Amino acid sequence: MITDSYGRIINYLRLAVTDRCNLRCTYCMPQDGLDWLPRKELMTYEEMLRICSLFVKMGVEKIRITGGEPFIRKDLMVFLEHLSATSGLKELTLTTNGLLTAPLVPELKRIGIQSVNLSLDTLDEQRFRKISRRDGLGQVIKTLETLLAFGIAVKINTVVMEDHNIEDIIPLVQLTKTQPVSVRFIEEMPFNGGTHTISLKWDHQHILQFIREHFPDIQKTPDTPHATSSNYHIPGYEGNIGIIAAYSRSFCGSCNRIRITPTGIVRTCLYDAGKLNVKDLLRKGSTDEDLEIMIRAVLLKKPADGWDAQRLLSGQKSAHQSMATIGG
Ligand code: 5AD
Ligand code: SF4
Repeated sequence: MITDSYGRIINYLRLAVTDRCNLRCTYCMPQDGLDWLPRKELMTYEEMLRICSLFVKMGVEKIRITGGEPFIRKDLMVFLEHLSATSGLKELTLTTNGLLTAPLVPELKRIGIQSVNLSLDTLDEQRFRKISRRDGLGQVIKTLETLLAFGIAVKINTVVMEDHNIEDIIPLVQLTKTQPVSVRFIEEMPFNGGTHTISLKWDHQHILQFIREHFPDIQKTPDTPHATSSNYHIPGYEGNIGIIAAYSRSFCGSCNRIRITPTGIVRTCLYDAGKLNVKDLLRKGSTDEDLEIMIRAVLLKKPADGWDAQRLLSGQKSAHQSMATIGG
């Protein structure tokens, strides 16, 4: 079991396999993309399998594959198949923008992926183009339909942005009337590659109030342990609504997660800079025992919450420029 100094049990690892993406979402990166990481700086699949299996031995039960867009990385399915066979791993999930995912759904089902988080900020083609600076809404919808058809649980991630998708909040809530999906509205965080400062007009309270005005009988449902979303349900509807206070950070007290960036940096908080590079250690020949000692030491320093992490960072050059380099 891995515990931090606040007694929190860390059993959830989020692994970003690439910083690259086939979209350019305004809340994530600049129009021209990022300075993509050179290939040799990325962990290889072999390195990732070794690190994941070590984390699982240490007590991690759930792994989420993120990016960038994970399906941009070559041979991801082969990696997922190997990873899903890790003994002791209880749950393997992933987050995708859904552009390339639909044809792979049967294969995802076969290797045992039980749930997928799909980034979808709008149901309108023009707004999709404005937000993601690319086309592709049709492919994302196809991915949504195929996941549901194959019985894979879907959570839709929607970043709420004043100038972009307020018109979509109600239609997205309405999607839960007939579809067994969980639509999660996320406060925008400042991880966009430095392109703009964010206004927190649409914080979690405002989002809830807006939805409640349209759906007065919306009900609070119990939150699962470690959930980042506060969850709601409209009576008679198939799906659920979640609101994620990603910027307000009201859920850190029960945090059970740790991240690994595409270059192998262990981040104990989304808002910290990362203190340990496991890829470099692997390449220097560290044994699993060495790695375990260093990982446990770093985890003991996991900050109390995202505000604490940000304070500790101040003075340093902000290391997290984009969600795609941190790992979503
Ligand atoms: N603020 C909030 N959420 C973000 N995501 C990406 N960038 C941001 C941001 N700046 C979310 C997307 C994606 C998930 C991995 O992270 O919704 O689904
Ligand atoms: Fe790509 Fe996701 Fe970033 Fe959009 S938010 S550019 S889909 S990594």
